Amino acid sequence: MERQGRNKKPIFLIGFMGSGKSTMGHKLSRILKYRFIDLDQFLIRKHELSIGDLFARFGEEGFRRLEREALQELAEEEGCIIACGGGTPCYADNMQMINEKGTTIYLQTDLEVLFQRLKTSATERPLLAGKSEEELRETIESLLNIRKAYYEQAKYHIDGNRPDPERLIALIKIG
Ligand code: S3P
Repeated sequence: MERQGRNKKPIFLIGFMGSGKSTMGHKLSRILKYRFIDLDQFLIRKHELSIGDLFARFGEEGFRRLEREALQELAEEEGCIIACGGGTPCYADNMQMINEKGTTIYLQTDLEVLFQRLKTSATERPLLAGKSEEELRETIESLLNIRKAYYEQAKYHIDGNRPDPERLIALIKIG
């Protein structure tokens, strides 16, 4: 299925860590026949370092610079779905850039759902590493409070607690 009557500008999925951006991205890419790109995986391949190693070597500030460069590069691609990192929209003018270059979708997910998913997640996430459950919940809550103002600038907001790709496709077609 093609997005009729439109160019194939990129679709950016944004939302907190654990909001399901990659899962949704894979599903959408199959339905729309768009290429799926996970920004973290793109960075790992480009720099031949894990996310943990990128943080360790360049610090969070350096990581954000590399993330921004990669985003800029990918924003010029056509026919792709890009799952951003949880922090991507919240640095520099990334949110403004992705809103200008493509269609932005926010997977809005409740704190408790994020906590349950992240508590048991095997993905390496330096900002959450080594935390007790209580610290993890507090970190999620405080980061989410800061970040939601950025996420909410996305064109579409969908329910990340119960993501429904077909509904999202319908929404994009109408909008
Ligand atoms: C981050 C989210 C991660 C990754 C890095 C930093 C963040 O991506 O980019 O660990 O600041 O929220 P996911 O949202 O895919 O876990």
